[in-house]
Amino acid sequence: MKVSVIMTSYNKPQFVGKVLKAALNQTMSDFELLLMDDNSGPETRQAIAPFLSDPRVKLHVSKVKTLDERVRKTRYAVLINEAIRLSKGAYITYLTDDNLYHPRRLERMAAYLDDRPDVQIVYSASVTRYLDERGRIIRTVERPARSVTRMAPCAVDHCSVMHRRSILPEVYRRYGSFWDEDPRFYRIGDARFFWRLNQLWSFHPLPDVLDYNYITTTSLHQQMFSEQKPPLIRKLPPQKTCKELRDHLAGLQGHGGA
Ligand code: TYD
Ligand code: MG
Repeated sequence: MKVSVIMTSYNKPQFVGKVLKAALNQTMSDFELLLMDDNSGPETRQAIAPFLSDPRVKLHVSKVKTLDERVRKTRYAVLINEAIRLSKGAYITYLTDDNLYHPRRLERMAAYLDDRPDVQIVYSASVTRYLDERGRIIRTVERPARSVTRMAPCAVDHCSVMHRRSILPEVYRRYGSFWDEDPRFYRIGDARFFWRLNQLWSFHPLPDVLDYNYITTTSLHQQMFSEQKPPLIRKLPPQKTCKELRDHLAGLQGHGGA
């Protein structure tokens, strides 16, 4: 098996079908999609159902129920760590339930690693679109992929990375887990994982836009900055910041943080 796509999902009924469709409509076919659902409601489960006949899709539904269980650990990190254990691909890549892959994403990123045995991690450019409550685009931000970097946290998106499976044992040995489940990193769990990786390896650029990320009014990010914070957000511990992760890496690298 060439690639394992690890997708996390929780209550995005309007999006999850489109996301799965784009992920399965790839020019490359040698991959599995581990669909890690955090016990979503019936609307989301219905949206997922048509895709379960595809033999590449492997659905795992968590047993989490209460709000207290949802804030005890960074849920998507827990799901990803489980998926890593179940996965079989030589390359690992990530997907959230609000991100559309470019049709050639897996082909291009896997070829990049195939061609460069010394590269452990590749990242692509990405586009983030902010949507209002009616689904209209209100802001677009492009994240470029121009240079080899050890400053990936908060510069590279969760869904813009592919790495070799072979680096994972070293991550585990050094940090005691793959992704950090500490809920102080709920807002920036991807950045926290990249912070771990960047202490050991660089991210190498594939300059084309290969995924489209959507931030809706219900996404954690919007909710954390909104006036009326929903219960899940109010129960989270104070959140760590991008600056803390980036300053730490800059210190290790002996410069001011480019
Ligand atoms: P999301 O709401 O999209 O936040 P962001 O603003 O960071 O994009 O959630 C990120 C991921 O976390 C998404 O794939 C769903 C997952 N998730 C769970 O698995 N369980 C949960 O309880 C929550 C709130 C999110
Ligand atoms: Mg999201």
